[in-house]
Amino acid sequence: MHSRHLNEQMVRVLRTIGYDVRFRRGKGQYLFDSNGERYLDLLSGFGVFGIGRNHPALREALTNVLDSEFPNLVQLDVSTLAGILAERLLAHVPYLDKVFFVNSGAEAVEAAIKFARMATGRPGIVSCDHAFHGLTNGALSLNGDGIFRNGFEPLLPDTQRVPFNDLAALERALSSRKVAAFIVEPIQGKGVNMPADGYLQAAAELCRRHGTLFIADEIQTGLGRTGRFLALEHWNVEPDMVLLAKALSGGHVPCGAVLMRRPIFERMFDRMDRAVVHGSTFAKNDLAMAAGIATLDVIAQERLIENAARTGERIMQGLKALVPNYEMLREVRGKGLMIGIEFGAPDSFRLKASWSLLETANKGLFCQLITIPLFKDHKILSQVAGHGLHTIKLIPALVMTDQDCDHVVNSFDSVIAGSHRVPGAVWSLGKTLVTHAARARKAG
Ligand SMILES: Cc1ncc(COP(=O)(O)O)c(C=O)c1O
Repeated sequence: MHSRHLNEQMVRVLRTIGYDVRFRRGKGQYLFDSNGERYLDLLSGFGVFGIGRNHPALREALTNVLDSEFPNLVQLDVSTLAGILAERLLAHVPYLDKVFFVNSGAEAVEAAIKFARMATGRPGIVSCDHAFHGLTNGALSLNGDGIFRNGFEPLLPDTQRVPFNDLAALERALSSRKVAAFIVEPIQGKGVNMPADGYLQAAAELCRRHGTLFIADEIQTGLGRTGRFLALEHWNVEPDMVLLAKALSGGHVPCGAVLMRRPIFERMFDRMDRAVVHGSTFAKNDLAMAAGIATLDVIAQERLIENAARTGERIMQGLKALVPNYEMLREVRGKGLMIGIEFGAPDSFRLKASWSLLETANKGLFCQLITIPLFKDHKILSQVAGHGLHTIKLIPALVMTDQDCDHVVNSFDSVIAGSHRVPGAVWSLGKTLVTHAARARKAG
């Protein structure tokens, strides 16, 4: 049915890489396939299952909403659950005053663009190279990766990209004084790129000096993933707007929020006849609001932010200790449970030929030699951090245990060791992937 009615290419991808195991159940950080086999999920639905899959508190909250027969989405009233969730979110960012709810990450970005333009009266939006902010037209205009943009242009006018970590380029862009906002992920999701020391503080300061709003896209990094409620807290930065989505949903009911300073909000909603000048029909629906409240409860009660910091450090230390052992393992970086594992071209002649064979077929293919055996032999689901990259990204649920962490480290150790053996099973897989890539290119 999926091939016939939906995305056939996705079905082909899953078959090619052997991920077509038909998952049947999810619990916490684990998935179970049709044979009852357990997998450790280091992808967590692109980061939506911060509290893990099917958390009982979340299920209870959602069931309670349904059982209560609340009126829901009257639209010409105000929702109590939305008020509660807004207050709970703002308690984490005392310097912000207002919340605007949305249905997804991209919708949060779209809203932020409108709020920023309206509040400043300026058209420009600056984002970073390699940024990912979503795939709707406005958000896409801010994306730093050509593969997403190509073929869809022209996109939103007056958008501009600067290199991440380049303050001089940012200052040049802002000096036109036509820039409404600078939007940045504190840690870039595509590639797990870390901000240089002082970059985010200095960027926020530049924004303030040039009358530009500083928007933190914490859609992936927020809600405890990096070991703080917001990743920006690691660098003591107070943005003008914060975007949240993904994990706020509990993984069940899409839910996002734009948190901002009062004057920005009040410029958009400044008169009674403009009370609905921006909005989205489903945004404050009761199930989404209840999911958000329950998610924040679980994060607090189970001390998941502390757990993310601790277990993330355990994985990171374990993986960092492997770097000296393997010439193709270059770097392990990240914060909390947002971890990038970067590979690079080998120096030894023995491995060089095999690496180039793969990379000529398809840039970034090497990482599949790690993720596929991790899945098949160690029952670990992971992903490459972006198109053509040599970095694998881990963004598991924040409920990871020490045992899970040790399983991750030991499994990577074993698979990376295999990738350094030529000839060997891993490189036979490499040859198969090269054949598939060649066939796909021919078909295309
Ligand atoms: C940093 C960031 N911003 C925005 C988005 C877009 O969110 P959504 O897929 O919910 O539209 C994502 C999704 O991966 C993201 O990681």
